[in-house]
Amino acid sequence: MKALLSTQVGGPESLVLSEIASPEAGPGEVLITVRAVGMNFPDVLIIEDKYQFKPGRPFAPGGELAGHIKAVGAGVTGFSVGQRVLASTGWGGLAEEVAVPAQRCIAIPDAMPFTEAAAFLMTYGTSHYALKNRARLTPGETLLVLGAAGGVGIAAVELGKAMGARVIAAVSSEDKLQFAKSCGADGGIIYPTGPLDKDAQRQLSEQLKQACSGGADVIYDAVGGDYAEPALRAINWEGRYLVIGFPAGIPKIPLNLTLLKSCQIVGVFWGAFVARDPAGNAENIAELFSLYGCGKIRPRISATYPLERGAEAIRALSDRKAQGKLVVTIGG
Ligand SMILES: NC(=O)c1ccc[n+]([C@@H]2O[C@H](COP(=O)([O-])OP(=O)(O)OC[C@H]3O[C@@H](n4cnc5c(N)ncnc54)[C@H](OP(=O)(O)O)[C@@H]3O)[C@@H](O)[C@H]2O)c1
Repeated sequence: MKALLSTQVGGPESLVLSEIASPEAGPGEVLITVRAVGMNFPDVLIIEDKYQFKPGRPFAPGGELAGHIKAVGAGVTGFSVGQRVLASTGWGGLAEEVAVPAQRCIAIPDAMPFTEAAAFLMTYGTSHYALKNRARLTPGETLLVLGAAGGVGIAAVELGKAMGARVIAAVSSEDKLQFAKSCGADGGIIYPTGPLDKDAQRQLSEQLKQACSGGADVIYDAVGGDYAEPALRAINWEGRYLVIGFPAGIPKIPLNLTLLKSCQIVGVFWGAFVARDPAGNAENIAELFSLYGCGKIRPRISATYPLERGAEAIRALSDRKAQGKLVVTIGG
């Protein structure tokens, strides 16, 4: 079978399309014929050994995928050959076939295309957990989303609207702002691409306060870097600041800012939540499928790529060019 492999530490151009032996479904595993792979920023990080997980090489990036089950290993119950599933794998997705522990698979609704199934779980799962379980966002609150046109960002925009919040999008270009508005954002601002000196940070903070009509109750920060402190300065009394990711770098925050607003800086690690609270995760996934079923959320796929061009999808994420979700499709 074909797989797009990371054989050495490097950027997307270091990936090699290779012919390797098909895996087999071991005990407790299912073998999936992969039809679509959702690409995420962690794919940029994992091939450069900058992610929290560092798989041994060679490995294929691609942390979430959808396809149908080709074989079922010993001891697996609840799944059968031919069934359509999505799976959250961490890596290994950019391959024609992948063996996955059955507990990492979820049956998908008949009406859900493979492309949308592969682009569903990580972004909506993260943003739902962040807004519901960590921020406890309530209807009528103002939600500010940094990096609102990205994968997890646009999911936060859609979910924030579904939860009754007023959603303000912060992004780096007019195109991205229009995209966020087309997905439900009530307003927004365009910030500079950075780096931001102290004056630019002060200006940004004022701009954010204005866009939020005074301040944000919840801030969803999928960007970090020089954007984090100006955003925190635009938070409301007893606001919640969600730490999601750091494509622009890991910021350092003066702690006195939390005292001044009696606010909380709240860490969000969705993957660990999934492992530590299977019942809570199952409840969240059921809610997400229900929101999808009634049309309140829908993966915003802006481009698809064949397997041999999978590196281009990772390059687009790394170059800050992606909007919504990028998906690699495999097979006919
Ligand atoms: N906490 C969790 O459990 C969890 C789960 C999933 C993902 N994440 C993290 O969330 C972050 C976003 O992931 P994603 O898949 O949504 O990525 P994405 O689609 O690439 O979105 C990231 C956004 O960050 C902004 N950005 C700012 N500086 C950037 C830079 N130097 N390079 C690239 N983008 C930059 C871009 O928006 P603008 O151009 O508008 O600024 C971009 O749209 C990543 O750090 C990822 O690791 C965390």
